[in-house]
Parts: sequence; C-alpha cells; structure tokens
Amino acid sequence: MTRLRIVQLSDIHLTPSAGEELYGVETGDSLTAAIHSIQRLQPAADLIIVTGDISEDGSLKSYQRFSESMASLNCPVYVLPGNHDLPDNMALAFKETPDIRYRQSANIQGWHLLFLNSQVPGEEFGQLDHSDLEQLREQLKTAGDSPVLVALHHTPGKVCPSSGCQLHNPDALLNILNDAPHVQAVIAGHTHNDSDKTVNGMRVLTCPSTFAYAHHAQPEDNVDHEDFWAAHKLDISRQGYRMTDLDEQGISATEIVWF
Ligand SMILES: [Fe+2]
Repeated sequence: MTRLRIVQLSDIHLTPSAGEELYGVETGDSLTAAIHSIQRLQPAADLIIVTGDISEDGSLKSYQRFSESMASLNCPVYVLPGNHDLPDNMALAFKETPDIRYRQSANIQGWHLLFLNSQVPGEEFGQLDHSDLEQLREQLKTAGDSPVLVALHHTPGKVCPSSGCQLHNPDALLNILNDAPHVQAVIAGHTHNDSDKTVNGMRVLTCPSTFAYAHHAQPEDNVDHEDFWAAHKLDISRQGYRMTDLDEQGISATEIVWF
C-alpha cells in the first residue's frame, strides 16, 4: 500500500447556469478557484471525494457544469448525494463520465472507500434507512482486512442543535462502524464548517464548503435553533476544502486548505 492523498470537496451548490449568484457568490467561480488550488498541491491529489450538495437545485445542467469544471483535474472524482442533490439526475449525468464516479464503494491502493446516501427526499436533515445500514454491514464484511474510510453528507457528529443539521440516526451508523475493526474515519459535509473529533470512539471529520462557511449557534446561545438564519451565519469570505493523507497506518495528516 502506498500513500494516498484525498481531497474532500463539499457543498459546492452549483446552479444550472453560470452568472447566477447565491448570497453574493457565483458558486461556479468558487469551484474553479478550488480546482486551481488543487492543481497546485504537492504531492498531487490521487482522488477527490465530494461529500454532497454538488448542486443547489439538483438539475442536470448543474451536474453537467460540475463535470465540465472537474475535467481539467484529470483525477478520479467520487460523488455522493446531499440534501440539495437529486440522485436520479446524478446517476444520469454521471453515467458516462470517465472521471466522475457515482457508486457505493471503491478499492483504491489497498483502501476500501464506502459512499453512503443519507439523503431524505425533501428534507434538510439526513437519515440512513434500514436497507442502507444492512448494505453497509455487508460491504464492511467484504472489505476484509483493508482499512476503510466512510463518506456521507450528514455528519454523525452533532455540530449544533438545529434539526436540519443532523443525521437523525447517528448511533445506528456508529455502532455498525465500531463493530468493524478497520474503519479509520468518517468524512462528511453539510455543516459548511470544519471539525475533527471523536464521536463514540470513531474519528469524524467535516469539511468546509467551497461556497460559504457557516457558523452554528451552540446550545447555550439564546436563539431559536429551528430558525435557520437566527441560528446560523454564513461567511462568504471563507471557502475551503479538506486534504487528507492516508498511509498503511491510517490518516497520517489532514488539514483544511482555504483558497
Ligand atoms: Fe447539505
């Protein structure tokens, strides 16, 4: 097994057409800035994982914009759905894209990568249903002795009290992962901020958005946590991604790259 450098992009929120702005950000331009930053990495990225919300509206056009932008990287890109994405359109848009892969698992340089769909159609929060969890159990069995990295949109680590930010059944996921001996970490998006913590014995990493950073009100803050704009502040001056190096021991380094 050799070293593996993973770039995690998340919450790109691409619109169907160039020139449209979300809260003052042209999200296609911020993806381009991320790509330019990735192209300068030394050593170069071996693969890219996008932990959901590629699109703002789930449109085919937004996924086509994504494919066109990512083509300049010449690097395999693994994608999974977030609450803004439409899995059917992702499957259609990425059916024949050689470098963009929408699937449930991959084996790369001795690592077993698992990509979960935590989306609940029409909802902001996430949940893994019974069949997702059973499938995960099976996939962990087939991973054998390989180290495993699990990626999904909604983090099993709570970042704030707002219901829309939660994976509703984190313990169901973490119990399965903790029963498997070789799971090294979980990576997630959705929060639009970065964290690196241990939750029920499992390392859980989140990643900033390429579009806008989010500050989350904490339980002690005197706000209505169900009022999104009262409980969250967006910062469009902070855009980043996570770069993680893996070796035979597990995660050897991880850092946020702001661009
Ligand atoms: Fe999200």
